[in-house]
Amino acid sequence: MDIKELQEEIVKLKKEKDVCILAHSYQAHEILEVADYTGDSYKLSVDASKCPNKTILMCGVRFMAETCKILSPQKKVLLANPIAGCSMADQMDKMLISQVKEKYPDYTVVAYINTTADLKTICDVCVTSSSAVKICKKIENDKILFIPDCNLGDFVAKQVPEKTFKLLSGGCPIHACVNVDDVKKAKEAHPDALLLVHPECTPEVVKLADYVGSTSGIMEYAKNSDAKEFIIGTEISIAEHLQYALPDKRFYYLSLKLICPNMKATTLTDVYDCLSGNAGEEIELDNQTITDAKRCIDEMIRLG
Ligand code: 13P
Ligand code: SF4
Repeated sequence: MDIKELQEEIVKLKKEKDVCILAHSYQAHEILEVADYTGDSYKLSVDASKCPNKTILMCGVRFMAETCKILSPQKKVLLANPIAGCSMADQMDKMLISQVKEKYPDYTVVAYINTTADLKTICDVCVTSSSAVKICKKIENDKILFIPDCNLGDFVAKQVPEKTFKLLSGGCPIHACVNVDDVKKAKEAHPDALLLVHPECTPEVVKLADYVGSTSGIMEYAKNSDAKEFIIGTEISIAEHLQYALPDKRFYYLSLKLICPNMKATTLTDVYDCLSGNAGEEIELDNQTITDAKRCIDEMIRLG
């Protein structure tokens, strides 16, 4: 089957089987075309809880599928490709954070949504890159232990100077490997372009940006800006989607190092195979994990 035929089969199957397809913006264009909802990790988790379908198929990474399961435990949640983990989410587990909490008992533990369901069970509130600043400002406690991403944590801490932040040395290896030299080269090649970056990039890179925001934030900014050229400092799919959506503007990759192998693991064939019942993985979480992890996601929704 060619791409068009495969897409038609997917659309037919999802209707037949009452499946809602969610695709994170880092997925390939042909996957976004068959999705019912697309967007950043926060938007997808809310969309999943509101959609009427009995089954959710997540084209993204494992923590995103787990978040859907936590918010919609009565639904069947499938991860299109089971190898799609998140290198950041896998860095910190419950045992490590329990020890850190003992060291800082009076701190509120703020967990980036890029964490496992198991780790969320011992955290106080979740945040996404689009809601982190707002939520950290609203938290009553002025002492915050922000995990796992120290780059996002640094970005938030600078915008919430009235609070004390403790950061650990975790983060996204993809975003963190872009450096000032990459920025210099991209700006030299495209001197009129604005630089838009994700807060998972290092503070040195963030400092040079014209705009810092989540994947959806970057896309909105580019859409609404009068500028015509943009250097995109996040996973390269975002520059591709923007080029499709806004053909009169020009989008350049900040660096070709910005390719997430986890996000790229899912193919259109995986989506078809998963819908056919021949691939994918059903996310199963025990009731206690769902109840405990939900507390910190509910808190994110309440404060965000
Ligand atoms: P968003 O929260 O912006 O969707 O980002 C998720 C992610 O994994 C970024 O690397
Ligand atoms: Fe995880 Fe980084 Fe990939 Fe985002 S880009 S899914 S944080 S490994």
